[in-house]
Amino acid sequence: MMNRLKMLAVLLLALPLLAIMSPARAAAGGEDVAATYKAKCTACHGAKAEKAFDPSKADGALVTAVLKGVKPKMPAYDGKLTADQANGLVAYMKSLRK
Ligand code: HEC
Repeated sequence: MMNRLKMLAVLLLALPLLAIMSPARAAAGGEDVAATYKAKCTACHGAKAEKAFDPSKADGALVTAVLKGVKPKMPAYDGKLTADQANGLVAYMKSLRK
């Protein structure tokens, strides 16, 4: 009986931990971000984020550019990407330029 309770407690603790860990992995430049970047962004920004991207700009400004777009050519991804994903993509693009 006691063991079952312990198992249940471990499960209940582990589930939110898993939920927390996956976006953290994405923000750190995991597979999901790489795949999203490749699918949506490489065509214009290049495989190494070498085109139309200035990694010296502040994260906030770059994330806003992704979500709100930049005239004339950068599309707004508001509604298609979450703020978390935009953050992850900007971090990923910066990591490509290092
Ligand atoms: C149709 C081409 C195109 C696509 C697709 C595109 N971008 Fe852009 N992006 C641009 C251009 C061009 C600029 C520079 C501003 C301008 O002229 O519109 C830009 C600007 C940016 C900036 C600001 C860069 C800076 O130095 O201020 C970021 C960040 C960015 N894009 C990220 C992304 C991400 C992330 C994706 C994929 C989700 C993406 N872009 C998809 C063309 C594109």
